[in-house]
Amino acid sequence: MKNFVFLLLLAAANLPAAPMPQIVRNGEKASLLVDGKPFIILGAQVNNSSGWPSSIESLLPGAEAIHLNTLEVPVYWEDVEPEEGHFRFDALDNIIRLARGRNLRLVMLWFGSWKNGTMDYAPIWVKTNTERFPRMIDAGGQPVRVLTPLSEENLKADRTAFAQVMRHLKEVDGEQHTVIMVQVENEPGSLFTDRDYSQRANQQFTGAVPAKLAEALGKKAGTWTQVFGAGAAESFSAYAVSRYVNAVAEAGKKEYPLPAYVNVWLREQKNFMRPGEAYPSGGGTLNVLDIWKAMTPSLDTVAPDNYVLDYQNYQRVLAGYRRKDNPLMVPETGGPRFASNIFYALGDFDSLGYAPFGLDSMLGGGKVLDVAKAFADDCRLLGPAIPLIARLQGTGKLHSAVEEQYLTDRLIPSSKFDVLVQFGNLHPEYGGIFGTQTPGMTGRALVAELSPDEFIVIGFDAHVQFRPTRGSKEQKAQFLRVEEGTFADGEWRTSKILNGDQTFFTANLPSHGATLRLKVMAY
Ligand code: DGJ
Repeated sequence: MKNFVFLLLLAAANLPAAPMPQIVRNGEKASLLVDGKPFIILGAQVNNSSGWPSSIESLLPGAEAIHLNTLEVPVYWEDVEPEEGHFRFDALDNIIRLARGRNLRLVMLWFGSWKNGTMDYAPIWVKTNTERFPRMIDAGGQPVRVLTPLSEENLKADRTAFAQVMRHLKEVDGEQHTVIMVQVENEPGSLFTDRDYSQRANQQFTGAVPAKLAEALGKKAGTWTQVFGAGAAESFSAYAVSRYVNAVAEAGKKEYPLPAYVNVWLREQKNFMRPGEAYPSGGGTLNVLDIWKAMTPSLDTVAPDNYVLDYQNYQRVLAGYRRKDNPLMVPETGGPRFASNIFYALGDFDSLGYAPFGLDSMLGGGKVLDVAKAFADDCRLLGPAIPLIARLQGTGKLHSAVEEQYLTDRLIPSSKFDVLVQFGNLHPEYGGIFGTQTPGMTGRALVAELSPDEFIVIGFDAHVQFRPTRGSKEQKAQFLRVEEGTFADGEWRTSKILNGDQTFFTANLPSHGATLRLKVMAY
């Protein structure tokens, strides 16, 4: 027996390390692979000041209670390099150790030169040496609280620190890959000014747009104003900031090539669109996303912090950032509908992950607070279905059906059937029987087509029925079998077969949620 255990240990020691986390592309489809398998981030981001050992430990049981598989945690430049060239990684090591104990993955957020369009996380030795580490100058000639992206010295300092962090990560996590992704900077760009108005910046601004950029954008050569018109200042900033962030990412990836992204403070958030005022100028907002894509080969994606409140604009943002050259990921979100919006992100826009901001405010006294209960229910149901969701994303066979105000009936297309998902009590009206509204607008579901007559439906507070698509010779549909169950290691496990009152009119998703497997026949 002893020998056997020894041999097992020996075999384990010789096992090759799990493959690196990576984002792979297959035609239009992008997938995040963790340990070589498709993975979707069901995450949350901790508060800005909760990466410290004094805070993080108490949050982890809550992460587990919400059924998260990933935590997004900041690593602070001011902590990592309190004196120039002296590095310490205690906080990062502590987070990794704790996450491993709970089987959680991590996304590490590098709060370096930028945090919410300011320089607040730069170390004191950077903040106080304004000669060596110049700030942006506003149109009135005054310095603002933002490092200029035009300074090579600023870039060198940030790049050096970030490379050290990544080198350390490789040392401590290069085999286990608890950290699966890094965010390079936080909402870069400038608040308080639309561009740098220093002498050096003005000279560059009146000069020509770099030929490589003009070419990549398919634009004719010219000055910034000639090429970009009213958007010149913001485009000039986007070019400078994206070039800088890319150089930081490149230095980090040279040490340890984890998937990397940058997050964006959106201009759609308040529908008040003055760059440098309502949102940081030069960040990867949709109006300058092409500039960012041209300038950031070292980033895997540019990701929206989607705090947009109305569902149509929320989806417009998801659609804007899901591009062939830009896999969608939602690293931050919030607002009253975050438990519903995950269904759009994963079901309709192929998001690689979804993480509401502020884990701390989802928990109280070690418990999941009301505000996060619905999201915890989502993660409980969606977590086991990740292999299925990841497989069907990008194939047209996965859709969401989400209840919104006055939107109580959703018709989902599939190869052979129209799937009608309805919310609230069903009520006859001219034209048929319609949903009314659930009291809390809590209806939400994913509809996955396994084959033309077989479906998985995952969700809450909804009625589901089928009709043969228009034009087919059959007019009606009936359930052959409705199973309730879940997935374990990607395999379906039936817990019971529903029939009789439970499926007489429609199949039903209760308030506490269910995963149904439905076999349907047209006749
Ligand atoms: C967006 C930032 O990226 C986060 O770090 C945090 O400050 C949130 N805003 C707060 O809403």
